[in-house]
Amino acid sequence: MNSCPETSKRRISILGSTGSIGCNTLDVMTHLGGREAFDVPAITGMGNIELLAAQARQTGAKFAVTADPARYDDLKSALAGTGIEVGAGPSALIEAGARETDLLMAGIVGIAGLAPTLAAVAQGADIALANKECLVSAGDLFQDAIDSGGGKLLPVDSEHNAIFQVLEQDQRHAVDRIILTASGGPFRDFTRDQMAAVTPETAAAHPNWSMGLKISIDSASMFNKALEMIEARHLFGMRPDQIEVIVHPQSIIHSMVGYSDGSVLAQLGAPDMRHAIGYAIAHPRRAGLPVERLDFARLAKLEFYAPDEARFPALGLARTAMQRGGLQGAVLNGAKEIALEAFINGKLGFLQMADIVATTMDKLDDGRVAHSIEDVYAADRDARDVAASLLRQSD
Ligand SMILES: NC(=O)c1ccc[n+]([C@@H]2O[C@H](COP(=O)([O-])OP(=O)(O)OC[C@H]3O[C@@H](n4cnc5c(N)ncnc54)[C@H](OP(=O)(O)O)[C@@H]3O)[C@@H](O)[C@H]2O)c1
Repeated sequence: MNSCPETSKRRISILGSTGSIGCNTLDVMTHLGGREAFDVPAITGMGNIELLAAQARQTGAKFAVTADPARYDDLKSALAGTGIEVGAGPSALIEAGARETDLLMAGIVGIAGLAPTLAAVAQGADIALANKECLVSAGDLFQDAIDSGGGKLLPVDSEHNAIFQVLEQDQRHAVDRIILTASGGPFRDFTRDQMAAVTPETAAAHPNWSMGLKISIDSASMFNKALEMIEARHLFGMRPDQIEVIVHPQSIIHSMVGYSDGSVLAQLGAPDMRHAIGYAIAHPRRAGLPVERLDFARLAKLEFYAPDEARFPALGLARTAMQRGGLQGAVLNGAKEIALEAFINGKLGFLQMADIVATTMDKLDDGRVAHSIEDVYAADRDARDVAASLLRQSD
């Protein structure tokens, strides 16, 4: 077992510890020394109480929270006699974020992650950001909160983590473009007719990455890449025309930065989220991580294709949202969540998800901007309402 590069125990709270990002985070922490190296002020989950309780015991977490108020008693009895404090519901989630910590892993899926992450930002914690919805929906507001909180923002999305690693801070003025790689997902080579008939089960089967259900389906539709484009715009202060997407089926190059002298710097690695998570945990050092080493002779070839925006209209929608600015990112995300739920529940075809999002964005293209977190929630709510009414009309 490697030891943590820090000399004293570091405090790491994990929002969404029962999810894919959360479990990978705990795996990395175990590898880097476990309880001898880390204290865990708070962990949160939602429906998977058994796992949440097991994780709380394993890490010696001080505070365990389920987002679902109806599961409070279940969590309380699962942790009876341990001395671990238990909470449930939205205000307990925010309290989990607000508990003093050195680093917070933001691994909740969806906009539910925004308020508890902002609570951690406000207390000055460094933020390892997997929850892209924070930046997609709250954009400048979230960045401003980071600036006033004083903590570091460390991207965990593998593409943004790659860019963070190769972006030369003193040469930001010389950055021409950033190039986000996309695996193309399971339907990369499907025709539109084939895509029209796919099921949630096939959409969730990502060829390279093992991830949660929603992000896997978002990868298949490239809505995940669309969110990442908006996330990149805010994280790295890029104009929309500086953000490119290239399909790279092997997912070995995690993303690239192009400079004004024609150089392109890339970060490479095996497709394993523990890279980006371990990088964020160890930052600014590099820790020994239990990930596969690249064997270039065996890899032999790396391929690249321009994405087909007729089959993957989500990319164009991201560009529209960035050009329109204001709260269109929140609207895109809120409408996408409703369309995605409908697809998962068999109420909407795969290709129709983009139609619902596009129409919702047009209907709510009213120039509104975010002055407060409430404005972000209002845009999210309105987008969900409009998207839901479009769905009812299409029944
Ligand atoms: N997975 C990846 O490899 C990956 C890569 C890059 C970025 N991301 C981003 O990281 C975030 C998490 O993704 P994931 O794949 O780890 O998702 P996931 O596997 O679905 O896990 C989501 C976590 O959030 C909890 N949760 C679900 N709904 C919630 C709600 N309404 N309120 C509070 N907590 C809730 C879940 O609890 P229960 O499971 O207990 O119900 C679980 O702990 C997403 O924003 C995703 O885009 C993920």
